[in-house]
Amino acid sequence: MSIKSRTKIQDALTSDEFEKEITVKGWVRTRRGNKKIAFIALNDGSTINNIQIIADVPAFPEELLRQITTGACISVTGLLTSSPGGGQNVEIQAQTIELYGAADPASYPLQKKGHSLEFLREIAHLRPRTNTFGAIFRIRHAMAYAIHKYFNDNGFFYLHTPIITGSDAEGAGEMFRVTTLDMNNPPKTQDGKINYKEDFFGKETNLTVSGQLEGELGALALSEIYTFGPTFRAENSNTPRHLAEFWMIEPEMAFYDIEDNMDLAEDFLKYLTVYALEHCHEDLNFLNNMYDKELISRLNSVINTDFMRISYTEAVEILSSSGADFEFPTHWGSDLQSEHERYLVEAHFKKPVIITGYPKKIKAFYMKQNDDGNTVRAMDVLFPKIGEIIGGSQREDDINKLEARIKELDIPMEDLGWYLDTRKFGNAPHSGFGLGFERMMLFITGMSNIRDVMPFPRTPKNAAF
Ligand code: 4AD
Ligand code: MG
Repeated sequence: MSIKSRTKIQDALTSDEFEKEITVKGWVRTRRGNKKIAFIALNDGSTINNIQIIADVPAFPEELLRQITTGACISVTGLLTSSPGGGQNVEIQAQTIELYGAADPASYPLQKKGHSLEFLREIAHLRPRTNTFGAIFRIRHAMAYAIHKYFNDNGFFYLHTPIITGSDAEGAGEMFRVTTLDMNNPPKTQDGKINYKEDFFGKETNLTVSGQLEGELGALALSEIYTFGPTFRAENSNTPRHLAEFWMIEPEMAFYDIEDNMDLAEDFLKYLTVYALEHCHEDLNFLNNMYDKELISRLNSVINTDFMRISYTEAVEILSSSGADFEFPTHWGSDLQSEHERYLVEAHFKKPVIITGYPKKIKAFYMKQNDDGNTVRAMDVLFPKIGEIIGGSQREDDINKLEARIKELDIPMEDLGWYLDTRKFGNAPHSGFGLGFERMMLFITGMSNIRDVMPFPRTPKNAAF
C-alpha cells in the first residue's frame, strides 16, 4: 500500500460503511483516557472536525502511546464504527498505530488550551494546525478557487502581469527596489549617483504595486481579462488592514463604462460571499461562534441588498452634516479615511456603499475625467467592518487629457510610451478595478486583523518565516 493511501478524515466522518477497515493519518489534537482506554482526537486538515480514535491501551506498546501527545503525527488503521455518544457519529477502533513524528509536550508550543491570536502570529509556522487557522486557510483556498471560477465562467482570461516592474507609473504606493547591485559598493555615475545601467535589468526595477497597467494592454486585445497575483507596497502603514505584500484581483474590461464596472464589482462580491456560505459553512460556523457572532448574518445581509451608490460629493455632505466625532474632518477635496468609510457603511446606510466621482486631485492619473473638470470616474466599494475593499475606475481614453495629467503629475512620459500606445492604436472605452484579496478574506472570515488571514504576513519590521 502506498503511504498516501488513506481515508481523509472529512470522508471518514461522513461515511456510513461501518465495520470497514480504514486508515487515517493526521496530527493529534488531544489525547485523554485511562489505563484501559485512550481517546485520541485526530485532525488532518481536510475538515475542522476531528475523528475520535479509540485505542485499547494494553494492546499497544507503552512507549508508543506515551508519545501520542498533542501535535504528534500518526497513522491509524482500524475499524470505522458508529459512535453512540458524544458529538460525533463515527469513530475508529484502532488496530495498528504508527508514529510518524512525536511532538515533545515540554517544547511544543501549541497546547490544548486556546492561544491568543497575537501569540499565534509569533508562531505562524505552526498556527495552521489550530482550528482557527485551518478554517481560515481552507476558506482562503475556496475563495481563490471561486475567483478563478467566476471569471472563467464569465468569459474572462487570466493574464499574468509582471511582478518585477520597470515603471513606477501607477503611483499607488511606495515600492520595494529589486536589485543585484552590491549595496556596499554600488557602481556610480560621474555625478555620483548609483548607476542602474549596470544593474541586472540595466535600469531601476521594483516589485509591482498593481498589475493594472499591463492588464489594460490585455483587455484591449482579449476584451475581458483579470489578474490575480501578489502586489507589494512599502508604505509604513501599521494598521489591521494593510500588508506590505498582499494579493490583488484586478479585472479589466474593454467596452465597460463606470456603471458596468460597478455592476461587475457588486455581482462579483456577492458571488464570492454566496460561494463561501455554500462551500465553507462548517468553517464559517466555527468562526462565527468563536470570534464574531454577527459574521454569518453580515454575509447574508450583503448578498440580499443592493449596494448603495453615491457620489463623493454626496458622501462629503453626509459626513459633514452627520454630527459624528471624526478624528479627521472632511471637506470637499479631502481623501476619505477609514473612519468615514465605515460611518457611511455601518452607521448611515447600513449596507455596502459604492462611491464614484472622486476629486481628480486625490486619484490616479489614468482615471477618466468627468466633464466638470474636477472629478474622475473612480469607484471605491466600501464594506462593513473593512472600509475600502475595492478601488477602480473607468480609464481615461482621451489621449490628450491623459498626457496632460501625466505632465501635471511629473510622471516621466518616456516610461509610459507602451501604455499610451493603447490610446493611439485601436483605443476603446474600458474599465477595471482591484479587489484586495486579504480585505475580502477579512470580510468573509470576520477576523479583525489582516495578519490573521495571510499565511505568512509581511508588515513593517516583520518578514519572519
Ligand atoms: O485602491 P488600490 O490602490 O487600486 C489599485 O491598485 C488599482 N490599480 C486597482 C485597479 O483599478 N486595477 O488597491 C486596490 C485594493 C484596495 O481597495 C484594497 O482592497 C487593497 O487593494 N489594498 C490593500 N490590501 C492590503 N494591504 C494593502 N497595503 C493594500 N493596499 C490596497
Ligand atoms: Mg484605493
